[in-house]
Amino acid sequence: MTTMTLFRSVTLTLVVWIIFVCSVVKSQTLTQKLDLLMRNASVTMNDEYLCSSYKLPANDQYIVQYEALANAGTAHHILLFGCDEPASSEDYWHCGRLCKSQEQILFAWAKNAPRLNLPKDVGFHVGGQTSIKYIVIQVHYVNPLPPGSLDTSGIRLSMTSLRQRYEAGIYLLLAYSVRIPSNSVNVFADISCQFKASGPIYPFGFRTHAHSLGTVISGYQVNNTYNLIGKGNPQWPQAFYPVENKVVIQRDDYLVGRCTYNSTGRNRTTYIGASHNDEMCNFYIMYYADRNTRLQYHSCAGNNNPRLIQKLPAYSYQQLPPNPLLEMAAHGPSGHMGDPEGHSPSPIVTAAPVTMAPTPAPTQAPTKPTTRKPETVTHLMDFESDFGGSSSGGSPTPGSEVVIGQVGGVATDKQGNVYVFHRGERVWNGLSFDQYHVFQQKNRPIKANCIVVYNSAGQVIRQFGKDMFFMPHGISVDDKLNVWVTDVGLHQVMRFPPNSDQADLVLGQRFQPGKGDNLFCKPTDVEVLSTGEFFISDGYCNSRILKYDKAGTLIREFGSSSIATFGTAEPGSGTFNVPHSMTLAEDKGLLCVADRENGRIQCFDLDGNFQLMIHSPEFGDRIFAVSYCRLHGGLLFAVNGPSLSGTPPVQGFIIDINDGQLIETWNAKPGLRQPHDIEVDPVNLRVYVGELDPTKVWRFDMKADDGTGGRGNIIHSGTTPSSSGTTINATFVETQETNKKSLTQEEEIMPAIIIGALLVIPIIIIIVIVIVIRIYKKGQHDCCGRHRSRPRKKFNIGNFLTPHRGFDRLSQEGSDTEFDPLNDDSDEEEEYSITRKA
Ligand SMILES: *[C@@H]1O[C@H](CO)[C@@H](O)[C@H](O)[C@H]1NC(C)=O
Ligand SMILES: *[C@@H]1O[C@H](CO)[C@@H](O)[C@H](O)[C@H]1NC(C)=O
Ligand SMILES: *[C@@H]1O[C@H](CO)[C@@H](O)[C@H](O)[C@H]1NC(C)=O
Ligand SMILES: *[C@@H]1O[C@H](CO)[C@@H](O)[C@H](O)[C@H]1NC(C)=O
Ligand SMILES: *[C@@H]1O[C@H](CO)[C@@H](O)[C@H](O)[C@H]1NC(C)=O
Repeated sequence: MTTMTLFRSVTLTLVVWIIFVCSVVKSQTLTQKLDLLMRNASVTMNDEYLCSSYKLPANDQYIVQYEALANAGTAHHILLFGCDEPASSEDYWHCGRLCKSQEQILFAWAKNAPRLNLPKDVGFHVGGQTSIKYIVIQVHYVNPLPPGSLDTSGIRLSMTSLRQRYEAGIYLLLAYSVRIPSNSVNVFADISCQFKASGPIYPFGFRTHAHSLGTVISGYQVNNTYNLIGKGNPQWPQAFYPVENKVVIQRDDYLVGRCTYNSTGRNRTTYIGASHNDEMCNFYIMYYADRNTRLQYHSCAGNNNPRLIQKLPAYSYQQLPPNPLLEMAAHGPSGHMGDPEGHSPSPIVTAAPVTMAPTPAPTQAPTKPTTRKPETVTHLMDFESDFGGSSSGGSPTPGSEVVIGQVGGVATDKQGNVYVFHRGERVWNGLSFDQYHVFQQKNRPIKANCIVVYNSAGQVIRQFGKDMFFMPHGISVDDKLNVWVTDVGLHQVMRFPPNSDQADLVLGQRFQPGKGDNLFCKPTDVEVLSTGEFFISDGYCNSRILKYDKAGTLIREFGSSSIATFGTAEPGSGTFNVPHSMTLAEDKGLLCVADRENGRIQCFDLDGNFQLMIHSPEFGDRIFAVSYCRLHGGLLFAVNGPSLSGTPPVQGFIIDINDGQLIETWNAKPGLRQPHDIEVDPVNLRVYVGELDPTKVWRFDMKADDGTGGRGNIIHSGTTPSSSGTTINATFVETQETNKKSLTQEEEIMPAIIIGALLVIPIIIIIVIVIVIRIYKKGQHDCCGRHRSRPRKKFNIGNFLTPHRGFDRLSQEGSDTEFDPLNDDSDEEEEYSITRKA
């Protein structure tokens, strides 16, 4: 009897201790906080976007809570992105680029949104084997800070290394193009896409983002009915609000979003853009899903299924009833948000704990609207062999005595002759220019004739321009057969009258980079109107387009640098990151610009007013060149370039200029590698593409019928071995391991001490037990044998380590939040990131 009593009480004590130790272990060692703060940034400009990066712990982590350490008076918004490697290792940088490869949005905060907790069993999976090794924090400052003051706005993460049953993620709907006229109500920006994934996702939070004109933003899941995911007022705290309806987004469902604007009182047109004077249209869906669920994209950009928009319920733009408390909170007292509850009037972010419904049976396939696919213009591109003249009877290629180097530009004239502006023996590499854009080989003009003219059969009919150029770039031929070129080494633009090799017009100062009326910095291209007026894109270091009258007098200039990106949204319209090539659609009154490093095409009217943004996910990171022709109501032909991530492939595109929709992609066999310029020859219905490496010009023939396809043609291969054909030896700055993580000190040290102490006590108890058992063992075999197994079952440590037994998450209220899981493989593209590029 006494033995049993002693045994039981000792056992009980042990149980209590183990439970206690386990819970301490769980809460102290498995949970940690990470402060992601801007590293003492000084802000000197309006609409500054700054980024800092933080390295995550090496093991798998699940983020379960976000808390802003910022206030809306200083930080207009804060975004967190997951990264394999940040774009910079500096303390902070101007975030044109966020990450070296694709980034994944993790969290967004604006307008004093309060703390956000994820539901139980749901975490944002980062670190470890995921593609998220770093987190980049981006802060948008609308106004400069007072001189001398340094900003440390940021977000505090709570994360646990306990594996969560479900992984959270963010899916973003965004519009990248809208025109909001002055003094108008109910102007819409619409978004629609089909949802592609391996399984369903369960939305539990949503967030809206717009600037001052946004009145209401709503998002729907569409199967055969429109099911509201959420509807928010972007003037309220831009937090994640709970999804009220039980919505499940099944694969192949559609997602639709609508932003509504009221520009009453604004006397100008507003477009989507990065500055607070522009607008935005974002609808974030925070969801959880089985950890094996894979999404094809994590965002939806643009209105891809306009038919769905037509049937949107009117409720989509009816405003929410006024809520003075939330409105006050959004502008709120400029207190620090470390104590969010202090300012938020209601626990708006609280969601009921998620109970994971069993995966619903696959829905009946409703009749889905068909994706828009113009039937009229399929198989536009075909290949034909031998530019040398198979079409004219297989004549040999007299041009073969001409050797071309890296092709800067290609142009055609109204007779279908082809003008190639190439670099001969010169290769643009890291030594070509110093850091001030000054060309380094001023005494070594290119010996070759840089301008070679072929007839449409591929025979050389003229060549000129030796000992004249240093780094050929763009070329154009106007209606009067003047040849216009830009040389980025000379920083000049030149015009050669027909059949003359003496320029009769030279703009820019020889070898002198700059930004002025007659000073360019690596100008890239020229386009000439039938009136004789012309445009210059300038260029690699300036982000502007200049318009001149036919006498060469500057009329106007437009465009600015895309210094800032919102990360998830488009750099402002009218801003460029290397305007690299232009084309005129005079019949439409449009000038379209390949905004190279923003990976997009922008079209302007002939006065420089922005008209159309073309930004297809298929472009990838960069668009090198664009060329217009009137066929089929107006088509743009474009080529992209190698992207850092390797996808999508380098290829050509055909775009409907009327609505910016991608009609078709095409390619050469075995594939374009470094296309640099493209030109449509409307006379012979051909498309020419000049490549840097290998140094060649491809010819493609347009055919309305389905040709045999497949073989590309070379006007001529250069002599330079292909290894020297690369242009710029891109040097990527290695990210150093210097990104310090700011784990709170106490949390690193305290657990070790506490746990150490706690573990000693049970060990002593165990020793006592063993001794006690030994003493009584001899006479009590049966008793002890029976009893041994029972406690063991009870002590099964596994039970305590399973989530949600014996400990609770940090979250005071099991509420919602977002985050992105990311087991996602890097080969999954995110559409929103295509709209980032700086
Ligand atoms: C900002 O500077 C102060 C003083 O030098 C330093 O203590 C603090 O850690 C810095 N903050 C960040 C986030 O780097
Ligand atoms: C459409 O989606 C809603 C909400 O997720 C769901 O309740 C409904 O059953 C779905 N209908 C069909 C036909 O799949
Ligand atoms: C638009 O804004 C103006 C001024 O803020 C307001 O008076 C008007 O009621 C608003 N109209 C709608 C339809 O939102
Ligand atoms: C609004 O724009 C019109 C046309 O540009 C101009 O005439 C008018 O003065 C402007 N009004 C205000 C208040 O700026
Ligand atoms: C360019 O890159 C190649 C290959 O990495 C290297 O061998 C060469 O030295 C580089 N050239 C310059 C100018 O950096």
